[in-house]
Amino acid sequence: MSAPTTPHTPSAPAPSEQARQTAQPQPGDRVLSGMRPTGALHLGHYHGALKNWVRLQADMSCYYFVADWHALTTHYESREVIEKSVYEMVIDWLAAGLDPERCTIFLQSRLPEHAELFTLLAMGTPLGWLERVPTYKDQQEKLRDRDLSTYGFLGYPLLQAADILIYRAKWVPVGEDQASHVELTREAARRFNHLYGRAPDFEQQALASVKKLSKSDARAFEAARVAYQQSGSVEALGQGQALIAASGALSAADRERLEGWLRGTGKAILTEPQVLLTEASKLPGLDGAKMSKSYGNTIALREDKASVEQKIRRMPTDPARVKRTDPGNPEKCPVWQFHQVYSDAPTRDWVVRGCTTAGIGCLECKQPVIDGILREQQPMLARAEPYISQPQRVRDIVDAGTERARITARETMRDVREAMGLNY
Ligand code: TRP
Ligand code: SF4
Repeated sequence: MSAPTTPHTPSAPAPSEQARQTAQPQPGDRVLSGMRPTGALHLGHYHGALKNWVRLQADMSCYYFVADWHALTTHYESREVIEKSVYEMVIDWLAAGLDPERCTIFLQSRLPEHAELFTLLAMGTPLGWLERVPTYKDQQEKLRDRDLSTYGFLGYPLLQAADILIYRAKWVPVGEDQASHVELTREAARRFNHLYGRAPDFEQQALASVKKLSKSDARAFEAARVAYQQSGSVEALGQGQALIAASGALSAADRERLEGWLRGTGKAILTEPQVLLTEASKLPGLDGAKMSKSYGNTIALREDKASVEQKIRRMPTDPARVKRTDPGNPEKCPVWQFHQVYSDAPTRDWVVRGCTTAGIGCLECKQPVIDGILREQQPMLARAEPYISQPQRVRDIVDAGTERARITARETMRDVREAMGLNY
């Protein structure tokens, strides 16, 4: 068999795909997302992603994992950071409200199946697909202090594709910055299904081909198909094949399709996922830029009280308010954006009036924000407490989740190996 060489260019979606793209998540649909363990999570993670993860666990089948291999693609020289952060991050998740009874929490590196699927997908993935992922060049430029001209870094969106496809996830809750990775995942699934499986509408097409047989032959064919697939009866397979061969009404395509239908190989092996776009966090960093550890402008999810107070008190404000008597403009102040997240309407009115008339001082204005953050943190700290005092409980949760994930991952890999003919 010759290797596929034509790069796949996305064309206009087929009708069935358009229908799928406008589809809404249904209760029970599989959801998957991951985070890199590169340090304590902060309030930007909470408002940008975690809060949504918690909401989704109520009625979706959610898989959330610690992407430690992904962290290594950028932090391969600082493994201590990752090591320290794995279980801390899971505590942050539990603190935020993820409930191990309602979602599956697991650790990527415990599941070599991810690496296996990554390897197999890599065979047919054109280099150009990876080079064109926007985060590839962006991140290389942003993280100039690290050497990211590595094979692992180039390939990491395909590893992400494997993470998603191995659970046949329908929905991937991520931010806009990750949308291109989900698109690559769809392409990888489509190519895999094209090369090794059948189109998603294969079943409909096969049934249409069955209809071309005479009524009694169609009935006999279906009986043979069911018998072969349920018991592997070689005799039934032979009967089905004889019916295909004997019919004069079938085209070559019909015959090929019915052979696949009979053998049960005609199915979409990998599921094309969709982004479940999470709105960008409305909570910026302390300086008004995006909240990010590398900018040093974060408040950790479990930051202690004294530190929260100090950080908010030191936040920059509208530069026009030099003296207490200078009026200000909330639109030019990062504290105002915190009020949008943490304060109710009367408090916000109080801020606007007080700021623009110099009726309140900035420290006074910041107090409700401090109170709001501490109020939000309170239940999180309470939820985290038993896991901090009994770290084994966190490990047990991850162990149990990993074993649950493994069942699904193994099932998919069995189908993948079979589809690729790797079961000699
Ligand atoms: N790449 C993601 C990030 O950097 C993390 C991630 C890895 C992920 N695998 C995933 C997210 C699969 C969603 C689905 O944040
Ligand atoms: Fe910012 Fe509040 Fe000071 Fe106005 S009063 S500049 S909104 S901190």
